[in-house]
Amino acid sequence: MKKLSSPFAQLPFFTAPILLVPFLLLALIYFLLFPNGFNLQSGLLAPCQCNTCPATTTTTTPAKLATPAVDLRVLLGVLTVPSSYERRALLRLAYKLQPPPTGAVVDVRFVFCNVAKEEDAVLVAMEIIAYDDILVLNCTENMNDGKTFDFFSAVPKLFADKDPPYDYVGKADDDTYYRMSALADALRSKPRRRHDVYHGFLWPCDLESPNPEWQFMVGWGYVVSWDVAAWISETEELRGAAKGAEDMTFSRWLRRGGKGKNMYGEKPSRMYDYLNDGWGEKAACFRHNFTADTVAVHKLKDRRQWARALKFFNATQGLKPSKMYHLDL
Ligand SMILES: *[C@@H]1O[C@H](CO)[C@@H](O)[C@H](O)[C@H]1NC(C)=O
Ligand SMILES: *[C@@H]1O[C@H](CO)[C@@H](O)[C@H](O)[C@H]1NC(C)=O
Ligand SMILES: *[C@@H]1O[C@H](CO)[C@@H](O)[C@H](O)[C@H]1NC(C)=O
Repeated sequence: MKKLSSPFAQLPFFTAPILLVPFLLLALIYFLLFPNGFNLQSGLLAPCQCNTCPATTTTTTPAKLATPAVDLRVLLGVLTVPSSYERRALLRLAYKLQPPPTGAVVDVRFVFCNVAKEEDAVLVAMEIIAYDDILVLNCTENMNDGKTFDFFSAVPKLFADKDPPYDYVGKADDDTYYRMSALADALRSKPRRRHDVYHGFLWPCDLESPNPEWQFMVGWGYVVSWDVAAWISETEELRGAAKGAEDMTFSRWLRRGGKGKNMYGEKPSRMYDYLNDGWGEKAACFRHNFTADTVAVHKLKDRRQWARALKFFNATQGLKPSKMYHLDL
């Protein structure tokens, strides 16, 4: 006789690798919280489009409806790997709960190379259907072997038809948390806007008069104006010079091509590594406690570090009292 087994034993959920459980939980929480919040592009940072507004808003006064015209568009690629499901769920949640920047749109896209594993192809396809915020480049997964080149050279072609076009394109690591309003305001405030701009955290930060020939924006988060990305895209010979630490490589391309001359290094108080007190780390120009006017903080490696950052930046402020839950925040 065939042994009777639980009907659930056949379900993939119960045979999924244990690593997927946190992702599924986060996805579930996210879904319960935001049943309509799937579209990161239009839902998260773009101002409310009239055809997506609830019907009731049309009865409010025009003054309330008027949102400042968008004059700044940024594409931010978060370079990650297919298997980082939990991190993507967390970043989606974190960016969804940020107050939208005024007069600016920052679109976040998760970027990786060719998806090689069977399970990733299926799960990533489902994420794309649900969120449409993923970009798969035609490369083999790597960090310092040209992925940055692949990203910056692909983007101007992929978005060539976008109207209105992006003004800036940036890259961030998946342990970096950008504050979009601060980023948009920083880019907007620069005297030489939108042209030949290279913005980020300038390294080194601890020398009185560093040699400009050696300065570069650290790789965990930098942004260039669209013309710079277009130049990278048109300059195929850079691919041959794409090996080595990607942030230094990137700055070398720009110097060689005479591009990105409007270099805007953010104040070290506004872009920095998170100071992990538990690790015996000491504060330095590139590493300190959270600051209120942060543009981006890096080195958020585990859930607790993310939780501390998100709490500091008031991500939980919207929690409404309810008999349904009780949380110590
Ligand atoms: C990816 O790149 C390889 C090698 O350059 C090429 O043969 C292949 O057609 C490309 N695939 C896609 C989907 O563009
Ligand atoms: C960082 O903040 C923590 C908690 O607020 C505090 O205990 C610590 O002394 C601060 N560290 C530095 C170097 O300021
Ligand atoms: C978070 O909210 C509190 C209370 O409204 C405010 O005092 C604080 O400045 C906010 N923090 C940041 C980083 O915006």
